[in-house]
Amino acid sequence: MMRVVVLISGRGSNLASLFAATDRDGFPARVVAVISNRPAAQGLAIAAARGVPTDVLDHRQFAERGQFDTALAGVIDGFMPDLIVLAGFMRILGEGFVRRYEGRLINIHPSLLPAFPGLHTHRRALLEGVRIHGCTVHFVTADLDHGPVIIQAAVPVLDSDDEDTLAARVLAQEHVVYPQAVRWFAEGRLHLCAGRIVLDVPQDGASALIAPQIARCPPC
Ligand code: GRF
Repeated sequence: MMRVVVLISGRGSNLASLFAATDRDGFPARVVAVISNRPAAQGLAIAAARGVPTDVLDHRQFAERGQFDTALAGVIDGFMPDLIVLAGFMRILGEGFVRRYEGRLINIHPSLLPAFPGLHTHRRALLEGVRIHGCTVHFVTADLDHGPVIIQAAVPVLDSDDEDTLAARVLAQEHVVYPQAVRWFAEGRLHLCAGRIVLDVPQDGASALIAPQIARCPPC
């Protein structure tokens, strides 16, 4: 059983979707700990309610980013994870940290990267007038919101959308693709090799997650 540590900063809906996935029969990974940089992160309660160990490492207690990264790595390593999952973790991690966990550190971002790295992705997508938006699971590199793409899901942008409706449509897909990526990794089908993705799944298995979302777009 693969050991997963999840890092959060807030709500924890992706964490909850991962828990729901790991509850299913035969899921080859389990969440062994949840760590937050914010004491008030709601996701901590989701983990605690399941009896999953939690820890809080408040970044404000550290004078320098590097000190926080070192302390965080110490806490993570104590749980001996095979995979570290960033799920709404709102701290930039330094190069040393990223290198230490290369190939076993993944993130989800609410846009179709490389479009809209950074914050306020849904607002920016609406402002730009894109017709297709979505989310991306990727291996983490030292470049913020960049790194080899594991899986993406696309959703239509409707004329009637505001930031909230678009965010909700994307979030529903986040809850599909993130557990899928974790499953692939835990099954040994997903690797990072010389900075590139090696994914041993039938090609239409991956694309099927994307196409139906577009096909379901209501007529505008
Ligand atoms: C998600 O939209 C995720 O893509 C982004 O932060 C948000 C976290 O939401 N990185 P939640 O805490 O998982 O509900």
